[in-house]
Amino acid sequence: MYQLIDVRKYFDRGGNVVRALDGVSLAIGENDFLAIQGPTGQGKTTLLTLLGGLDRPSSGQVIFDGRDLGALGEGDLAELRAEAFGFVFQTFNLIPTLTAKENVEAALVPFRTGKAERTRKALETLDELGLADRATHLPGELSGGQQQRVAIARALVKDPKVLLADEPTGNLDEDTRDEIVALLERLWRDRGITLVIVTHDSSVARRAQRIAIIKGGRVSVRKEQALAR
Ligand SMILES: Nc1ncnc2c1ncn2[C@@H]1O[C@H](COP(=O)(O)OP(=O)(O)OP(=O)(O)O)[C@@H](O)[C@H]1O
Ligand SMILES: [Mg+2]
Repeated sequence: MYQLIDVRKYFDRGGNVVRALDGVSLAIGENDFLAIQGPTGQGKTTLLTLLGGLDRPSSGQVIFDGRDLGALGEGDLAELRAEAFGFVFQTFNLIPTLTAKENVEAALVPFRTGKAERTRKALETLDELGLADRATHLPGELSGGQQQRVAIARALVKDPKVLLADEPTGNLDEDTRDEIVALLERLWRDRGITLVIVTHDSSVARRAQRIAIIKGGRVSVRKEQALAR
C-alpha cells in the first residue's frame, strides 16, 4: 500500500536547516497496524503528514497504491486526501460551534453527498462508535474520550483506506486511553483499514503489529508481533 523510498524532509528556518526526516525507507502493507514511536521532535508528525499527503517530501518518494504523492498535482492530491485518508489528532480538533453530528457531516462536504445522505451516514457512524445519544451535543458538552470518538467518526465517515492518528490518546486518562485504543483496534479489524498511530505511549504501541522507532530522522522497525487476535 505504502512504499517510502529514502524520504527526506528538511525545513529551512532562517538559514538553519532542520532535518526532520533524513532517509526513511519503509513499507506499510494493506490492513497493517503500525505504531510510530520515538522521542519528541524526531519527525513522527512530519512522517504522518507525508503519509497523509498534507505535505511533500524534500526528496525521495512516498508511494501510495502506485502513485507518488510528492509528484501529484495539488488537485489530485487534495482529492486523494479527502477520500483515502482519515486523520485523528491529539487535541481532537472538532469545530466547537457545531454539534457532534454536524462535525461528522462536515467531512462529507468535499463529496457529492446530498444533505440527507450526509446526515444518515453521520448518524450511522456515530452509532457505530457508541455515540448515538450524543449526536446533538456540542464538543464542549462531551468528555475528552467522547470528543475523540466524534473525531474518529469524522475520520471514518468517508470510509477511508487509511486512518492516521497523531497521539490520539495524548490528552486522555489511562482508562479512556485504553478504551480509545480498543476502539481503534476494533475498527482496524472490522473495517479492514490500514491503521498508523503515532504515540509515545508504549502501552498503545504494544497493540500494533509493528513498531517503527523514529530517531534522528531515521526509522527502524523494531518488532513484528504475532498477536493472537
Ligand atoms: N513546518 C515546520 N517548519 C520548521 N520546522 C519544522 C516544521 N515541522 C516540524 N519541524 C521540525 O522538524 C522536527 C520534527 O518535528 P515533528 O513535529 O515531526 O516531531 P515529533 O516527533 O512529532 O515531535 P512531538 O513528539 O513533540 O510531537 C522538529 O525539530 C521540528 O521543530
Ligand atoms: Mg508530533
